[in-house]
Amino acid sequence: MTALSEKRSQQRSQQQSQQQSEQQPGHLNASARAGSSPGRTDAAGGSDRSAAEAAAATGPDGTAPGPEAPVLSVRDLRITDRAGDREIVHGVGFELTPGKAVGIVGESGSGKTLTCRAALGILPPHVEVSGGSVHIAGTDIADLTPRQWTALRGSTVSAVFQDPASYLNPSIRVGAQIAEVVRVKTGRGRREARRRGLDLLRAVHLRDPELVYSQYPFELSGGMLQRVLIAAAIAAGPRVLIADEATTALDVTVQAEILDLLADLREQTGLALVVVSHDLAVIAQVCDEVLVMRQGEVVEHGPTAQVLHDPRHEYTRLLVAEHEQYGLDRFRAPEEETR
Ligand SMILES: Nc1ncnc2c1ncn2[C@@H]1O[C@H](COP(=O)(O)OP(=O)(O)O)[C@@H](O)[C@H]1O
Ligand SMILES: [Mg+2]
Repeated sequence: MTALSEKRSQQRSQQQSQQQSEQQPGHLNASARAGSSPGRTDAAGGSDRSAAEAAAATGPDGTAPGPEAPVLSVRDLRITDRAGDREIVHGVGFELTPGKAVGIVGESGSGKTLTCRAALGILPPHVEVSGGSVHIAGTDIADLTPRQWTALRGSTVSAVFQDPASYLNPSIRVGAQIAEVVRVKTGRGRREARRRGLDLLRAVHLRDPELVYSQYPFELSGGMLQRVLIAAAIAAGPRVLIADEATTALDVTVQAEILDLLADLREQTGLALVVVSHDLAVIAQVCDEVLVMRQGEVVEHGPTAQVLHDPRHEYTRLLVAEHEQYGLDRFRAPEEETR
């Protein structure tokens, strides 16, 4: 291992242990992996899907929003810990249209994960949205019932987190777990769910989908597991995928492959992405636009190329300088090279 990659991997493992203690992942039922609250099962998800989907997919007059209408719109979002009577996130805003990718970068504890969890309706106990708004496909999430949330997660907005192994049941074969998500989220029968499950494993570029389908999680590498989780997350055709430190636990090469996969999905399906990382290089590889967060505030927000080349805020300059040591250039999107 080179000194450079060693440093990166040290940083990652520090981040990882911190994140694990924050997120306390447990072994979850398959349906929980499609973006629902950890520990929660939503076997009834299929039954109320149509109502919430209709609420999310259509405007007040029943017409579908135009192609450029934002699929996710976060305005001046404030998040407060009621237990500690402390505002944690102090006004985050961004808009995400289909096929776009927004990055959120910042040091650990800056409020990235809570911002994502607010958009997924899975804030921890005592932690609440205390100001601003989140609209998913035109619907204000403040108006959603728990049933509508259950239906929306996975089918409109979905997520992948760090540490994929903890989201899979270790004693159930991967294929059965994917098929379960497909059945619950799309209401398909067993045979159809199996076919769709295999298609999904193919879609995330797993080399031998039939083999992976029949394997147990422990038989797969971290990178393969993360692909499996992405397959589960896209099973119901969401319009927004939130990837919160989704590649942080992986080595640099596998990380780059997973980011390529997300970029592919985005191009092929118009999936909109929120990519969260403490690592500017990850954001640089995928995102059109970046928010730099520090201590619950957005200190800088702009097109990725502009923020990388001409950072305005002291803290962003520091992040960029830190990453230049690792050769940020190789992560830059091709279009930036022509500017
Ligand atoms: N369940 C919780 N209750 C109270 N405070 C929390 C909770 N989860 C996170 N926080 C606090 O909110 C802040 C932001 O956390 P988080 O969004 O996880 O940051 P990031 O993802 O940027 O590392 C941190 O100070 C953290 O301690
Ligand atoms: Mg986090």
